[in-house]
Amino acid sequence: MLTFEIEKKSTDSRARTGSIITAHGEIPTPIFMPVGTLGSVKAVSVEELKQCEARIILGNTYHLYLRPGCEVMTHMGGLHKFMNWDRPILTDSGGFQFFSLAKLAKFSREGVNFQSHIDGSRHLFTPEKAVDIQMVLGSDIMMSLDWCIPYPANEKETMAALEKTTLWARRGRDHWLEKGGVNNLFGIVQGGMYAHLRALSAQQLIELDFPGYAVGGLSVGEPTDLMYEMADHTVPLLPHDKPRYVMGVGTPENLVEMVGMGVDMFDCVMPSRNARNGQLFTGRGTINISNARFRMDENPIDDACNCYVCQNYSRAYLRHLYKTRELLSYRLNTIHNLHYYLNLMERIRQSIKADQFSAFKKEFFSQLNHKEL
Ligand code: GUN
Ligand code: ZN
Repeated sequence: MLTFEIEKKSTDSRARTGSIITAHGEIPTPIFMPVGTLGSVKAVSVEELKQCEARIILGNTYHLYLRPGCEVMTHMGGLHKFMNWDRPILTDSGGFQFFSLAKLAKFSREGVNFQSHIDGSRHLFTPEKAVDIQMVLGSDIMMSLDWCIPYPANEKETMAALEKTTLWARRGRDHWLEKGGVNNLFGIVQGGMYAHLRALSAQQLIELDFPGYAVGGLSVGEPTDLMYEMADHTVPLLPHDKPRYVMGVGTPENLVEMVGMGVDMFDCVMPSRNARNGQLFTGRGTINISNARFRMDENPIDDACNCYVCQNYSRAYLRHLYKTRELLSYRLNTIHNLHYYLNLMERIRQSIKADQFSAFKKEFFSQLNHKEL
């Protein structure tokens, strides 16, 4: 089981910094987890991930179950060995993939019956099976099977999904404990955009005594203010001495705001996916590298960035690679964006340690408003 130690709490926000200790080592918090859906963070090697200071990555149960499948995973000794990554891995349960592939998925009390997006074959995911697969993957932090609903959703639909999420969380937890309670299993709070349902979901999960808790069902199409309102309401209801994880969030601004609400963990495809679409993050906002104004630009993406890309390449060269669809474009853009996100988290941790988080936040937002790129 993991150990979670809080080293320092901010005195003028709910931010905290500390570490999560797992069988594959220590994770400083607050942390951002790059997404490696299929056993690879797209376009970069594990050596490059380490150069970007990635401490933990996320894998997807749904995808890895379909390809390469449990037989290969068991034979190859789990995901860490398979992909040659020796640091911690968190795996998502599949709940969110069913949500995004909803046309093919049928939900019942038993679990989710779905059709593979690859070959159309039918499969049943139960909360027990989600745990079994994540154990085969050798995940350090497994997620309960949950039911994430779209936005907007009425109260009745939201309540039905919440009830199923709690039922599945209990079944998954019982199964995990029967199997020896190795690794870790987190519960996921649902409850849509209803404050009282968020509170109910949190309370029901807390009774199940998970080693950590996630807030799911955010960033599903709701306005940003509503997302903040729900996170701000839900996060303080979760145990203070356990890790709190907001799933699928978000922009650099979202991370800074939510750290201030007491969130310890984040994951999002944004830095890696947007890199492949030419969108690069800087301390002064995002740029699109395809823009004509970078044609002759000798400067690095961000002169405040000390990543491998900014130390070696110009915007003009990166624009050329992107325009010509050179494969190197994906790799270099991804390295820069991941470095930006992971370095942002490091700066956040340092600011909390020095009890300067609010000053850091103020400076961060004021820099973003200077869009002289
Ligand atoms: N990723 C982003 N949101 C969610 C969610 O609500 N549930 C799960 N399982 N994964 C997510
Ligand atoms: Zn850079």
